[in-house]
Amino acid sequence: MYYSDEIIEEVRARNDIVDVISGYVKLQKKGNSYFGLCPFHNEKSPSFSVSRQKQMYYCFGCGAGGNVYTFLMEYENYSFQEAVQFLAERAGVELPKEEYSKEAKARADLKSVLLEVNKLAAQYYYAQLKAPQGAAGLKYLKDRQLSDGMIRAFGLGYSNKYSDDLYRYLKKKGYQDEILVKAGLIAVDERQGVYDKFWNRVMFPIMDVNNRVIGFGGRVMGDGKPKYLNSQETPIFDKSRNLYGLNRARTSRKPYFLLCEGYMDVIALHQAGFNNAVASLGTAFTGGHASLIKRYVNEVYLTYDSDDAGTRAALRAMPILKEAGITAKIIRMEPYKDPDEFIKNLGAEAFEERIGKARNGFMYSLEVLGRDYDMGSPEGKTEFMKETARRLAGFEEEIERNYYIEAVAKEYRVGFEELKKLVVKMAVQAGMAAPAARPKSGNVKERGKEDGIKTSQKILLTWLIEDEGIFSQISRYIVPEDFSDGLYRTVALLLYEQYGNGEVNPAKIMNHFTDEGEHREVASLFHTKIRELTTPQEQEKALKETVVRVKSHSIEEAGRNWEVSDLEGMERLMKAKRDLQNLQKLHISVN
Ligand code: CTP
Ligand code: MN
Repeated sequence: MYYSDEIIEEVRARNDIVDVISGYVKLQKKGNSYFGLCPFHNEKSPSFSVSRQKQMYYCFGCGAGGNVYTFLMEYENYSFQEAVQFLAERAGVELPKEEYSKEAKARADLKSVLLEVNKLAAQYYYAQLKAPQGAAGLKYLKDRQLSDGMIRAFGLGYSNKYSDDLYRYLKKKGYQDEILVKAGLIAVDERQGVYDKFWNRVMFPIMDVNNRVIGFGGRVMGDGKPKYLNSQETPIFDKSRNLYGLNRARTSRKPYFLLCEGYMDVIALHQAGFNNAVASLGTAFTGGHASLIKRYVNEVYLTYDSDDAGTRAALRAMPILKEAGITAKIIRMEPYKDPDEFIKNLGAEAFEERIGKARNGFMYSLEVLGRDYDMGSPEGKTEFMKETARRLAGFEEEIERNYYIEAVAKEYRVGFEELKKLVVKMAVQAGMAAPAARPKSGNVKERGKEDGIKTSQKILLTWLIEDEGIFSQISRYIVPEDFSDGLYRTVALLLYEQYGNGEVNPAKIMNHFTDEGEHREVASLFHTKIRELTTPQEQEKALKETVVRVKSHSIEEAGRNWEVSDLEGMERLMKAKRDLQNLQKLHISVN
C-alpha cells in the first residue's frame, strides 16, 4: 500500500457506500438495507444488498461483497490504489504525492505493477511499428486498409523479430523476471532461457473499460500458426470479464452493441463508423460477458462469421444473452465471411442496411434448424414443427411465448391455435409444465461446502457486529483466539479492538485487506443469514449453541497442540474447560 491507514480510512468514510453504488446500480430501500439487481451475476430478482449502517455490500446470490473499495475493484476492475484515488477525488480529499521509491514499488500491489508493465509494453510495440524495424508490420496493417487514426486509437503495434527484444527493454526499466512472467509477456524454459512470448507479430493491445492495457493479441503477418497468439489470463486479465472494443463502445451512445468474433472485425467496424462494436477475446461468449454488456445496453446485434463455426457460436451465445435479459438479433453478411470483408466490399451503408434487416435471434435459430429437415415433405415439416413447438415451450413468459407462436405461425404458414396446442402438448410431454429450469449463470462462483465450524464462526461474527448487547455478554467467554487461524482470527482481533475503543466499524476492518478475494470472504463473515429465520427464543438457543460449538472446537484444537511440558498451557486449557461448562448454563438475551 502506498497510502497510510489513516488516509485510506478517511477516504472510505467520506464516500457513503449507498451513494457510490447508486451511481451504478438502481437501489431500493427495504428495511435497514438497500436492494438491487446484482451487477456481478445475472439475476431477475434483487439479492444484492447495501447497508448504510455497515457501509458494506453483499450479494446473497453469488457471495460478492465488501466495502466501497471492493465494489470499485470488482466493478471497474480497479486496483486498490486506483480505487483509493478515484474515491479521494470524488470526495475532494487530497492524497499525499506517491513517492515512487524502490521501496514503494516493492510494496505496490501486484495488479498495479502488472498494469504498469503492460502499458510500457504497449507503448514499446507502438513505437516499433512506427520505427524502420517495424516497416513490415505497418505495411501489413496498411494492406488491410487500416487508417492511421484507427492504428492510433486501438494502439496497434509490432513485436520485433528478436526473441528477447521486449524482455531486454523491460529489464532495463528495472522489472524482475518474475513480474514479467506473471504479466504473460515472457516465458522461461530450461533450454531456451528467457524469451519473449510475442515476436514478429502485429500487436493488438487489449484494454479494459478504463482504457488500461490488460493483455495482448498478436497476429502473424501471413499464414503462420497460430494465427493469433493471446496473453494468458493473469490477475488483471480475465477473459470472461472483458470485451475487445468495449472501452470505446461504451461511450457510443447507441442503444445496442454489435457483437462480432474478431479483433479485425471490431476495428473495421469502428473505422466504418460503427463505434459500438465489441468482440469476445478469442474465447467463447460467456455469462460474464453478458452481464458486462447488460451494464450498458439491452440489445445486441450478433455479427459472427457466416460459416458453420460462426453460426454455431451465434446460436450458443443467444441463450446466454437472453438469460441476462438482453435481446439478440442476427445480422447476415452473405455472401461475405465477416464484417471486415463485408465492409471492404460493400461499404458502410450496405452494412447499415443489414443492421436494419437483422433477424430476431429465435427466428434465426429456427431457420438454421430447418436446414436439418426435409421441409418439402409433410413428414419433414411435421417433425420440424414439433421441435419448434418444444423450443417455443421454453419461453417462460406467456406474452412472449404467444408473440413467438404468432410469429412462427405466420412465417411457416400454420394456424396459431393449432401451433399453440402443439406447444402445450410438447410442454407436458417434456415435463415442462413447470417453468424450465434456468441454466446456471456463467460467472457465479462455485462455492464449495465450507466446513461446519467455519459457518459457526461466521454466524458468530455477524452477530457480534450487529448487536452490541451480545458482544458484552459473550466477550467474556469467546476471545479472538477462539477463531480459526488466518482471516477469521484477524477479523475477530480487529473487531474486538474496535469494541475496546468504543467504535464498531466493519467497513474499516476491510481496509486491512487489499485483495478482492479476501474482501469477498470478510464480507461474507458479516452477512450470514440468521436473524430472519427465528423467534427470539429460537435465536437465543441457536446463538448459545453457536458459542458452545466455537468454544469447544477451539479447546479441542488447543488440546491437540498442547505439549506435555507446557504447564501454563495446561492451566489455560483446564480453565477453558470450566468456562465451557459454565457456558452451557449461560442465558443470552437477544433483542
Ligand atoms: N482467434 C484466436 N486464435 C486463433 C484464431 C482466432 O484467438 N488461432 C480469435 C481472435 O480473437 C480472432 C477471433 O478468434 O480475432 C476470430 O478469428 P478469425 O475469424 O480467424 O479472426 P479475424 O479477426 O477475422 O482475423 P483476420 O481477419 O486477421 O484473419
Ligand atoms: Mn474473421
